Amino acid sequence: MPTLISRPAPELDRARLPGGTASRRARVLVLDGQTTQALACVRSLGRAGYDVLVASDCRWPLGAWSRHSRARFRVKGETVAAFAELRAWARRLGVSVVLPLTERSCLLCDTERAAWTEVGITVGCAPTDVLMQAFDKGRVIARAEACGVSVPPTQFPDSLAACHAAAEVVGFPCVVKARRSNVPTEMGFSRDPGPGYAASHAELDQTVQARRQGEHWPIIQSWVAGQGKGVFALCDHGRVVAWFAHERLRDVQPSGSGSSLRRSAPTEARLRAPAERLLAALEWHGPAMVEFRDDDVHPPWLIEVNGRFWGSLALAIAAGVDFPLLWMRMLEGETVTAAPGYRDGVVVRWLWGDVKRFLHILRGRPPGYPAPYPGRAQAVRELFGPQPAGTRIETWDRHDPWPAVGEWVQGLRELAARIT
Ligand SMILES: Nc1ncnc2c1ncn2[C@@H]1O[C@H](COP(=O)(O)OP(=O)(O)O)[C@@H](O)[C@H]1O
Ligand SMILES: [Mg+2]
Repeated sequence: MPTLISRPAPELDRARLPGGTASRRARVLVLDGQTTQALACVRSLGRAGYDVLVASDCRWPLGAWSRHSRARFRVKGETVAAFAELRAWARRLGVSVVLPLTERSCLLCDTERAAWTEVGITVGCAPTDVLMQAFDKGRVIARAEACGVSVPPTQFPDSLAACHAAAEVVGFPCVVKARRSNVPTEMGFSRDPGPGYAASHAELDQTVQARRQGEHWPIIQSWVAGQGKGVFALCDHGRVVAWFAHERLRDVQPSGSGSSLRRSAPTEARLRAPAERLLAALEWHGPAMVEFRDDDVHPPWLIEVNGRFWGSLALAIAAGVDFPLLWMRMLEGETVTAAPGYRDGVVVRWLWGDVKRFLHILRGRPPGYPAPYPGRAQAVRELFGPQPAGTRIETWDRHDPWPAVGEWVQGLRELAARIT
């Protein structure tokens, strides 16, 4: 059964949450409510005057703790059937736009786009043929090479023997990556364990087998040194309408992942130019994070394109680029242009991300990972020690305090579920 919000903040009932015809404000349904990007969208759109609803497969999703979240829906799973139930609920409440925030939700919404459109709901992501160009790591690397964007030497093997041959070509240590982060199955999606590292032939077999997706063998890449850097963009059919960049100060997983501490920074031309070329070649429509590794010597290497809103979205908004609002206006048919520039040096810390980092460090360096890895003393200093001047806590907003509580409730539940 759908649940109306019952967080410690205001309790709502149907009488105060009328269906579409009775409501004057456009109503938007934010999916993947457990993510930090969902909270950023809920706050941005709520502040802009939209009526925001939140859906998630978690019981108490972070985004639903916001005072801007008027109702929530618990999705039964990441399947077409569960999304059909979600759509029926959204239709009853007069939703006009649905915003999927993860690859899996984008794919599930797009699969049934006609059904969403039929009930008057715009799907807030590009069609699958556009999305898959980014969601398939092999395809995006090939496309980048074709438009002159530098990529780490990459091989596309089609058997275990070919993987060994590929590792010889790119050299050890090498990185082994599943072609796709999310592969649909009957029960939902299979999980990708993330990139693996192999320092020798002996380490390769297991790393490869864990990332094989049926007939799709993983890609094998040279490990390239340098700093992880990303540029963030909102595109209108291949044309970038807003840019943002940050400097990663800490990653959740020290061997490479989303960040837990980051500072807004100017969008470097050496990243922006290749990102712009690639997004134009993909005719990208919607938000995207283009991820590079940069050693400041070679042209930056493209790592991947995340074709969706990213975990640190709240930082972009805090620095003055309100991506969710711009995207929403585009979805409503406007041609948008972002105000040029944003504030440099804004630091936002995802506290729960730092807790997860702490646990990753305690667990130790992943097998085969070839670079220095932080030790326990550093882990303690990072979590409990002083932070850069002016650091803001991502979930904390004195005008909207509950998400700062919800983050711990959700995080501790997540931890408990892992332990049991
Ligand atoms: N070729 C590479 N060389 C060095 N580090 C890499 C390479 N490929 C990936 N990484 C590191 O691993 C992280 C995750 O890899 P990525 O391809 O972005 O997969 P995911 O889909 O898990 O984010 C990257 O952010 C980067 O830090
Ligand atoms: Mg990545």
